[in-house]
Amino acid sequence: VMKILVTGGAGFIGSHTCVELLEAGHDVVILDDLSNASGTVIDKIETITGKRPAFYQADAKDRTVLHEIFTAHRIDAVVHFAGFKAVGESCHIPLAYYRNNLDSTLALLEEMAQAGCTRFVFSSSATVYGPDNAIPYVETMPTYVATNPYGWTKVMIEQILRDYCTATPGFTAVLLRYFNPIGGHPSGLLGDDPNGIPNNLMPYIARVAAGQLDKLTIFGDDYPTPDGTCRRDYLHVVDLAKGHLKAIDYAMEHTGAEAFNLGTGHAVSVLELVNTFMEATGVNVPYVIGPRREGDLPQMWADTHKAETILGWKAEKTVADMCRASWNFVCSVKKQLCPVRNRNNKTAVSLRDGCFCCLHLVDPGGAVVRDRLPVHMGEQRDDRADAADDIEQRERHGKPELPVPRQGGHMLPLRQKDIERDDRVPQPALSEAGGPRQQCRADHAEALLCEQPQRNGAQQPGGARLATPLHN
Ligand code: UFG
Repeated sequence: VMKILVTGGAGFIGSHTCVELLEAGHDVVILDDLSNASGTVIDKIETITGKRPAFYQADAKDRTVLHEIFTAHRIDAVVHFAGFKAVGESCHIPLAYYRNNLDSTLALLEEMAQAGCTRFVFSSSATVYGPDNAIPYVETMPTYVATNPYGWTKVMIEQILRDYCTATPGFTAVLLRYFNPIGGHPSGLLGDDPNGIPNNLMPYIARVAAGQLDKLTIFGDDYPTPDGTCRRDYLHVVDLAKGHLKAIDYAMEHTGAEAFNLGTGHAVSVLELVNTFMEATGVNVPYVIGPRREGDLPQMWADTHKAETILGWKAEKTVADMCRASWNFVCSVKKQLCPVRNRNNKTAVSLRDGCFCCLHLVDPGGAVVRDRLPVHMGEQRDDRADAADDIEQRERHGKPELPVPRQGGHMLPLRQKDIERDDRVPQPALSEAGGPRQQCRADHAEALLCEQPQRNGAQQPGGARLATPLHN
């Protein structure tokens, strides 16, 4: 049994990796500042694995906390996910990207040196191959040209780790170059859940499918590819998480810096992914063709030979599996929206309104007693009871309705203690093999999901009465 420090362990890839580590019998310490993740992920990891990881909510640059962690735990290896990762944003605030991503890595390496910890697994990216290499990408190719500051942080950190390994015999750095991870945990509890409007393709498709966004824009269909849309190497996040176990095993037996591609070795176009999603889930995804997105390469995929032969790792899941898992996660999140009552037994139910959800106050009989309390999308999972309170307050004091917010608009405060729900019971998720897909066929999946029996058997005021979506 090893004790692994996972920075960014509450994030998309980090959380799935924590699950795999715990299920393999390892101890896990999570360090995450929750700047792009929810604290409820820690509970969900416990629900899935039956083990609660130690959790420190702090910035990975925070030397005091790092020192505390390395003093309190005998850490055998570090898996470093924490970092800023939005390509577009990195072009606008490059200093923040360099400061955050480089500093956290340096701070970790220095604390590891003090503690005598010598194994480091780094979340790198296929972006390090830059625009000039031929495809498929092979680990031996040069990686010194990135196309944006985010990509440069990955190139630079890889170089820092190589230099450090050269200077420090006995130290191991495994550089894992991820291609395009999508999907989620089969329980439906973990998945990719970005705040605001997603940048990446799969979370965007899933929100269009769920009716939270109107349509997908495909960025260009005039690329030199078979159908004209860009091709990527999408891999299932559970496969990717398993790759980290193999990387840790490798680190225990080797020293020095070594890079590995983690991908499937197959390219899938944007159109193929959209079509596979529709086939695999039975849900329609309206799309339009738009202009190209700046900086996109026509196609890329991994040469997976090295990971297969040296790590003994190979991605196993199909693109249809990935699509079902992504949809399953969105369906599960939506289910969590419904059964939350405030102290007066009123329920706040969210219904879509463009990109934003509006909350509607529903009495125990299911009638909508008050509607249109807008709430920012990113907040929607945790504030049902608060919202119900808030709507009632507004009623009582005759306060005007809030305007429907634009992105980054009004946010409701969280008051976890009022929320009556049990997140720890695994969802009756759609099975990976297909599941009761007709339940998700409706255009307005959310209202439909309110009709489903609640997993904890608790009374669900008004559930069945919301069969017809309410739109303003
Ligand atoms: N796309 C659309 N519409 C959308 C979103 C994306 O058509 O609304 C297209 C993109 O143009 C691209 C493909 O879908 O052709 C995949 O785009 P993603 O943003 O999902 O993924 P990228 O391949 O652009 O980016 C990923 C990671 C980055 C990493 C990069 C390069 O998100 O972290 O690969 O390796 F830097």
